[in-house]
Amino acid sequence: MNILILGSGGREHTFAWKIAQSPKCDQLYVAPGNSGTDKVGTNVNLSVTDFAAIKALVLEKKIDMVVVGPEDPLVQGVHDFFLNDDAIKHVSVIGPQKKAAELEGSKEFAKEFLFRHNIPTAAYESFTKETVEKGYRFLETLNAPYVLKADGLAAGKGVVILNNLEEAKAELKSMLVDAKFGQASTKVVIEEFLDGIELSCFVLTDGENYKILPTAKDYKRIGEGDTGLNTGGMGAVSPVPFATDEFLNKIEERIVKPTISGFKKDNLPYVGFVFIGLIKVGDEPKVIEYNVRMGDPETEVVFPRLRNDLVEVLQAMANGTLDEINIEIDERAATTIMLVSGGYPEAYEKGKVISGVDTIEDSLAFHAGAVIKDGDIVTSGGRVMAITSYGNTYQEAIKKSYQNIEKLHFDKMKYRKDIGFDL
Ligand code: AMP
Ligand code: GLY
Repeated sequence: MNILILGSGGREHTFAWKIAQSPKCDQLYVAPGNSGTDKVGTNVNLSVTDFAAIKALVLEKKIDMVVVGPEDPLVQGVHDFFLNDDAIKHVSVIGPQKKAAELEGSKEFAKEFLFRHNIPTAAYESFTKETVEKGYRFLETLNAPYVLKADGLAAGKGVVILNNLEEAKAELKSMLVDAKFGQASTKVVIEEFLDGIELSCFVLTDGENYKILPTAKDYKRIGEGDTGLNTGGMGAVSPVPFATDEFLNKIEERIVKPTISGFKKDNLPYVGFVFIGLIKVGDEPKVIEYNVRMGDPETEVVFPRLRNDLVEVLQAMANGTLDEINIEIDERAATTIMLVSGGYPEAYEKGKVISGVDTIEDSLAFHAGAVIKDGDIVTSGGRVMAITSYGNTYQEAIKKSYQNIEKLHFDKMKYRKDIGFDL
């Protein structure tokens, strides 16, 4: 079959790397792709939210399946767009329909879903410009730190955690009244602060059945010791050493099962990946957020551990036969270290030549913000490349990634040297 992947990050290069290994895949296209996807498939330069261009490509290249990487096209309804068009409705789309994608598109929608289905999560209330005074009063009833979340998509920047009540009130005003995040902060969710260690759980579903992929932990802050600004993710480890069988069982019983049955009860059409952001509070898992896609860089450690033919798994998701699939996982640990442009997540320069990629041994280089220009691989984004390694332990895997990173270079290259420090 012919497959199209939408997206251009390390996540999409990992999808492409894995899909290209399948004998079931004939032609593989990635739109817009990067210098890594270019090696395993054909890049097509179009925007992931330009649905008309996607349709034209699907018809021209006789695409049978579209795998959606990022959340934007899902929240904007790319799956529904296919279902509503006779010319392309036969194409399998991997990713939930718009109604279900609201689980990531609106924090309030997600919190209502969690409470309706009795899934453990932080207490919350939501506020608008009209109820900002009530928001101040609510903050006064809470203890620090204060967690404020813009309701809509804000490119990963919409969550603000503050230690001081007056600062929290000022932030609430800035979000609601001054529209700090534009449309995304016309509503704000204020949450109880949960104190614990975070991990992510990834679930595949065909809407009826589900399969759980290995857990992973990512490192979101730019600085060592989890300090500094939030990023898309600076590294990841899978499996998560503190996720014991007993703890995983709690996640499945209390969170995964009610989530999947909640989709059915609420009539949320879901064929795709569910990324459940969790926090371990004492010995209990609680949900921090839902994402309706795979994580990046978590994909770069989760998919390398998946032994199955990914196309077979995706087909089973599309056909509603996921119950017939037996997920097989590599016992080894996988870790990834993200190389980023100096300055990221704030302003950074692009177009820096990346050298040494061909000299990498015994690790996988998943390209992210990198493109081919005049025969060179050059930087094109903040997160540039994820170096993934296997090991009998995560420490061994991390060591291998760091050894290979020594051979890589671009001007102002930066990476965290302490991935896994807290495990
Ligand atoms: P989110 O975009 O909802 O994942 O939030 C971004 C980050 O904020 C999370 O990864 C957590 O580190 C933190 N966070 C979100 N909600 C809470 C909460 N209720 N308590 C503590 N930390 C939180
Ligand atoms: N690494 C976090 C995310 O993909 O949202």
